[in-house]
Amino acid sequence: MPQRTFSIVKPDAVRKGFTGAILAEISKAGFQIVSIKKLSISKPQAEGFYAVHQGKPFFDALTTFMSSGPLVLLVLEKENAIADLRKLMGATNPANAEDGTIRKQFAGSIQENAIHGSDAEDTAAFEIGYWFAGYELV
Ligand code: CDP
Ligand code: MG
Repeated sequence: MPQRTFSIVKPDAVRKGFTGAILAEISKAGFQIVSIKKLSISKPQAEGFYAVHQGKPFFDALTTFMSSGPLVLLVLEKENAIADLRKLMGATNPANAEDGTIRKQFAGSIQENAIHGSDAEDTAAFEIGYWFAGYELV
């Protein structure tokens, strides 16, 4: 059965003009786009999204970065979508990301690392519901 996951093309990648290339990688890997929208988010919205990281040393810088410019929110679908997207993304720190991964190709630093992907079924459900209403999922 197909599975859904949530992804973000982060503000660094949008700013650098990599949105189309990243969407092409996602598409080539067999994901269907269930929903997509480009928008700018507030710092409180970023803090709510990343609440699981509250208290970590990078939390303030991360949420400032995520609210620094437009980003692209995505709901993606395929068999094994959650694990397969994590693999396609590569390691959090692009210095450790394997060749061919999105972060290896497009990320600039451990913070400005081009893409987000849900890490489990429960976080995928929370993250999709945080950004998308039911009527937006077609
Ligand atoms: O995004 P991913 O699941 O790979 O990593 P995470 O550990 O859930 O961290 C969330 C995000 O915080 C990362 O994607 C980075 O943008 C940022 N981060 C950071 O700025 N510095 C760190 N040491 C770890 C994460
Ligand atoms: Mg994570």
